Formats: sequence, structure tokens, C-alpha cells
Amino acid sequence: MYLETFGCQMNEYDSELVRSLLKNRGFRLTDNSDQADVVLLNTCAIRENAHNRVYGHLGELKCLKEQRGLVIGVLGCMAQNLKKELMETQPLIDVLVGPDAYRRLPDLLTHALEMRTKGLAVDLSEYETYEHVLPERKEGVNAWIAVMRGCDNFCTFCVVPYTRGRERSRDPHGILEEAGQLAEQGYKQITLLGQNVNSYHAQGWDFARLLSAVADIPGIERVRFTSPHPKDFPQALLEVVAGHPNVCRHIHLPIQSGNDRVLQAMGRCYTRNDYLRLVEMIHQQGSIALTTDIICGFCGETNEEYGDTYHLLKEVRYHSAFIFKYSERKNTIAARKYPDDVPEPVKSERVNQLVQLQKSISREMNRQLIGKQVQVLIEGNAKKSSTQWMGHTESNTTVVWEKNHRPLTPGDMVALTIHDASASTLFG
Ligand code: SAH
Ligand code: SF4
Ligand code: F3S
Repeated sequence: MYLETFGCQMNEYDSELVRSLLKNRGFRLTDNSDQADVVLLNTCAIRENAHNRVYGHLGELKCLKEQRGLVIGVLGCMAQNLKKELMETQPLIDVLVGPDAYRRLPDLLTHALEMRTKGLAVDLSEYETYEHVLPERKEGVNAWIAVMRGCDNFCTFCVVPYTRGRERSRDPHGILEEAGQLAEQGYKQITLLGQNVNSYHAQGWDFARLLSAVADIPGIERVRFTSPHPKDFPQALLEVVAGHPNVCRHIHLPIQSGNDRVLQAMGRCYTRNDYLRLVEMIHQQGSIALTTDIICGFCGETNEEYGDTYHLLKEVRYHSAFIFKYSERKNTIAARKYPDDVPEPVKSERVNQLVQLQKSISREMNRQLIGKQVQVLIEGNAKKSSTQWMGHTESNTTVVWEKNHRPLTPGDMVALTIHDASASTLFG
């Protein structure tokens, strides 16, 4: 079985659950798709280009399927989003399984292999948290734990509430037990995941309490979390970030737009001022790095409204930002209520401008670190060269440096002096 993952960290985590569920049923995993009898794609539906990448991949698999009788499974958000329609338009798909139905995957694959039957499982659940399924993690420094699944926010542009269903939180004791085992196995960083992570609540625990308890586990050098929603970011959570040395002083705080009318049309439940007040509150806790997500060209966004986002980016000075073109998703509130009327070239132009602006801000902020020392958790070889190490600062900025003769290994924390910096990378 070969599994390829698209999309966000939650999907990466789900792929680890899927590997575990299949391994327990006797499937053997391979990193080489040429050797596989089963190829699975764990897909994303967040923007049209996410869909297109999957269609592209399916196109490539067509030949293999004809030659070798491969069983092809599509999992994840796109499977959930398109359901039967995907199966009907893409006859090479044998099995289609959504994010809440992975427990059924081993049976469906077995039937597809033995009897060549097609299988579909796209029921969403209000309860499934995959408690007691221990993810089959890749060796490394970071381990993800999904603490909650689903999303009830229904931001008008977003498909996630439809692909991942209602919000539900995992039992805190199960999470702490798993985190403790991860520490014993040598993982140095834990990242707590949820589409809306600060909505976590279970058995009287809120997210601040959970984060604090995970941070107290001996051996965990860094704890991260993603993504919180700006509308419900409590002071208590901020105090946990500021008060625990091993909780990274970095908050990913998606703003989406800097304009109140657009924010309201997006259903984000905060104003530009609410958000800026929250940023102010965060800054009062000393230096905490902020990063964000932005959508350009949402329905009806005028030049002036876009300008508000541009100026907000200049004002807040994020460490980095993911900047996206609005992509209409079928059946979302925005698709039903508002026309997708910002012309494509205008969307592109706005994205390009914001990317340029953010690059110059990121470069400036990174260059301020030249000559200074930063703590870096070694994660592995640099992408470009095995004679260099790669790791991240507490602010989640990538650092690259030449290996010397010191016997270091991934998972070690090192102090590095920065001697050069670009918009995306520090050189130590
Ligand atoms: N739950 C996370 C977001 C997950 S999706 C959160 O709310 O923080 C990641 C990002 O994709 C969003 O923050 C948004 O910027 C972007 N996104 C979501 N839907 C989109 C769409 N229809 N078009 C363009 N970008 C979108
Ligand atoms: Fe989508 Fe909004 Fe939920 Fe994030 S909070 S997953 S943007 S609906
Ligand atoms: Fe993630 Fe994409 Fe689904 S961003 S939640 S895999 S739609």
C-alpha cells in the first residue's frame, strides 16, 4: 500500500491514522508506488487547485491501473466533498472514504482487492475522534496530535465544515497519555492540531489547560499548536504561551481580510479592531511571533477594501503569511449568497502585491537577527544539501547551517549565531 498526502497538517496526521489502521490489518506499506497493489491519495478540497492536483495525479495512475490492476482509493476532504460524483466521473477510483470513515477502509480495500467491488464510505460522525488508534508516525522530531476534529464556524468561503463535519474534542487523558509515550519515544516537539484548536473542550478542560498540561510533560522541548481562531482567543491561553518556556512563542492567527465589510461577509465574527486589540494583547506579553492567512479577491472586495488588508499587513508586521486567491467552493454559504465577481487578473495582482509586501517585511525581520543568537531544534538535512543541517527557531523560521565535526543529531537543540538572512531562511 502506497499513500500520498495532500493538504494540511490535519491530513498528514490522518494519513498516519490510516497507515496504522491498515498495518494492523496486515497491509504492508511501501514508499515506492511502483511496488504497490493499492495506491491511496489523501486529498484536500480547500481551493480549486487542490482538486486539480488530485485530478492530475489520477491521470498519471490510469496507465498503472491498466497495466497492473492497481486498486485506487481516494480519501480525505475531496472524497467527502464530491462523494459519489467523484466516483462516477473518475471510473478508475475503486474506493472513496471520507475523514470520519477510515475505520471502514481496511474492509473496503480487502473487498476491492479480492472481489473487485467498489466501496464508498462518506458518513460524517459527531463522535469519531479515532481514540485508541495510535498513529503510525514517521520517525522524526515532531509528532502531531489532533486534539479536536471538525469545525462549526462556517466561515462563508470555507469547505472544511462540510468535509470534516461537526466539532468534537478528544478525551484529555488519552491525549496526555499519548503525549507522554511520544516523549518516551524521543519526540522532542509536539504540535496540537485542530481546525479551530482553541474551541477544544472536553470533560471540563479547555485548550489553555490542555496546552499547559502537555507542556508539563518531561522531555518535550517544544509544544506548538495550530490554528486558533481570533474570535475566541482567551487571555488564559496567552498566559500559557507566555508562561511556559517550552510552548513556542509563535501564534498563527489567520486574519483573512483587514476590512470590516469583507470580514463580516466572510462570517469571521471579529472586526479589524477586535483583531488589532488581540494583537496588542499578544504584544504585551513580550515578543511572540505572529503569522497569518489571507484571502484576496473575496466576493465584492473593492480596491479600497483590499487596501485595508494591505495596510494591516504593514501595521502588524507578521513573520510570514500564507496569501491565497479566493476560490469559490461549491455549496458553501458564499457560493450560495454572493457572486464570485472579482476578476481573475485582479485577484492575481492583489496576491502578487501582498506577497511582495510580506516578503520585504519577512526579509527585514529576519535580517534583524543577523549577529544574534537563536535556539534551533535540529530536524534533519537541509533540502538542498546533506552537508547542511536544517531546523526551526521558536518563531518557526527555517534555519540552515553547515555541519561541522560536532556529533549532532536531529532532535538536538543548538544555539546558532545568524550571519545572513533572506525572506524565508536564516543562515547560521
Ligand atoms: N481552520 C483554519 C483554516 C484552515 S484552511 C483556520 O480557520 O485558521 C487554511 C486557510 O485556507 C484559511 O485560513 C484560508 O486563508 C484559506 N482558505 C480557506 N478557504 C478558502 C477558499 N475558498 N479560497 C481561498 N482560500 C481559502
Ligand atoms: Fe474554515 Fe473558518 Fe473553520 Fe477555519 S474556522 S476551518 S476557515 S470554517
Ligand atoms: Fe485540510 Fe484541505 Fe481538508 S486544508 S481540512 S485537507 S480541505
